[in-house]
Amino acid sequence: MLATDKANSGGMSVLVTNIGELTTQDGEVGTLHDAAVVVNGDRIAWIGPAAQAPAADERIDAGGRAVIPGFVDSHAHLVFAGDRAAEFAARMAGESYTGGGIRTTVAATRAASDDELTAAAGRLVAEMRRQGTTTVEIKSGYGLNVDDEKRSLRIARSLTPETTFLGAHVVPAEYLDRPDEYVALVTGPMLAAAAPYARWIDVFCERGAFDGDQTRAILTAGAEAGLELRVHTNQLTAGPGVQLAVELGAASADHCTHLSDADIDALAASDTVATLLPGAEFSTRSPYPDARRLVDAGVTVALATDCNPGSSYTSSMPFCVALAVREMGLAPAEALWAATAGGARSLRRDDIGVLRPGARADLVLLDAPTFLHLAYRPGVPLIHTVLHNGVPQ
Ligand code: NIG
Ligand code: FE
Repeated sequence: MLATDKANSGGMSVLVTNIGELTTQDGEVGTLHDAAVVVNGDRIAWIGPAAQAPAADERIDAGGRAVIPGFVDSHAHLVFAGDRAAEFAARMAGESYTGGGIRTTVAATRAASDDELTAAAGRLVAEMRRQGTTTVEIKSGYGLNVDDEKRSLRIARSLTPETTFLGAHVVPAEYLDRPDEYVALVTGPMLAAAAPYARWIDVFCERGAFDGDQTRAILTAGAEAGLELRVHTNQLTAGPGVQLAVELGAASADHCTHLSDADIDALAASDTVATLLPGAEFSTRSPYPDARRLVDAGVTVALATDCNPGSSYTSSMPFCVALAVREMGLAPAEALWAATAGGARSLRRDDIGVLRPGARADLVLLDAPTFLHLAYRPGVPLIHTVLHNGVPQ
C-alpha cells in the first residue's frame, strides 16, 4: 500500500448515489442508470437503483456522473532509475526500438539507492491512482543480478501484491558472451532470492532477448518454485512464445503484436489472456496489435500500460483505452472491459475489475455522463474521484 493509502477496514459504509451510468462488468446486464453503490469496509455491499439504496455512514453524490470499476493495469515496470527521453527522441527521428536500451536503465537502477527506487516507484503508482488505476502489477527486470532483482521485488511488494520476477528481461552486459550461464543464474540463485517476493515469473521471449528453449527452461523453473507464469512475447517479431505460454498454462501472453493464425487459434482455445500494450506501439511508432481479430476469434483480451522508461512511459489507462478504440478496432465497451475485467482475468483475480457485492470497493467516478468519453475525449483528465478499498483517495 502507498503511504497515502487509507484503509477502510473499520467497516464504515459509504453510499455512492445519483450515478448516471454504472458499468459493473458483472453478467449480461453490465450497465445500470440512476444507480447507487453501497460500500462496506473495503468491499461492495450493495448495487441497485438509487431510489432503493439503503442508508450508509457517508454519502457521495455522483451528480449524474458515470462510474466504472477501477482500472486493472496488469503489466508495468515501475522499479527503475533514470529515464530514456533521448532514446525516445531518437526514435521519433527514425531509429527503431530493439530493447537494447534496457541495459541503460539497468545501469542506472543498480546505481540507485533503495530509497530513490522506492520513492520513484511510489510516485508512479500514485500517478496511476490519480488516473483511475486501483490495481497494478509490477515487474522487476532492471536489476538483473541477484541482489538488485531481489530488492526490486521487495520494493514492488511494498506497493502491490501482484509482483513479477523478470530476471529474464535481457542478458545483462556482463553475461553477453555467456548467455547460458545467465539463464543458469536466473533459474538458480536469482529465482531463489526473488521467489519470496514474487507471485509471478515472466520472460522476454524475443529475438535479442531469450529464445524458446531458454524461455521454457526459465518458466518451468519458476513454476517449480511456485510462481505463476506470464510471458512478454511476439512484440517485435513472430516467435514461439505465444504457443509456449499456452502450452505451459501461462495466465497471460503480453504484447501479441506479431501473431500467426496458429497463435490466435492456440490463444482462443486456452485460458491464456492476450494482454495488449498499445502505449508501446505508440511510443515506438510501430504497428498496433489487431485486437479486433483477437476478440473475434474468441481470445480474452486485456489492456495495460506497460509503463516503463523505454518503450512506453505512460501510466494512463484512459490513454490505452483511447488507443485501443481508435487504432485497434475495439468498441469502447470492449476496450473498457479489457482495461478492467480483462486485466483482472490476466491476474487470475475475480475480486477486482468488476462491481458486484463482495468484490473490492475499487471504483472510479468519471467527469463524464458515460464511459464513452474515455475514448471520445482523449487526453482529457476525466477522473473525478477514485475509491480504492472503499476509501475516496
Ligand atoms: O514491455 N519488451 C520488454 N520490456 C519492456 C521494455 C523495457 C524497456 O525498453 O526498458 C516492454 O516493452
Ligand atoms: Fe513490458
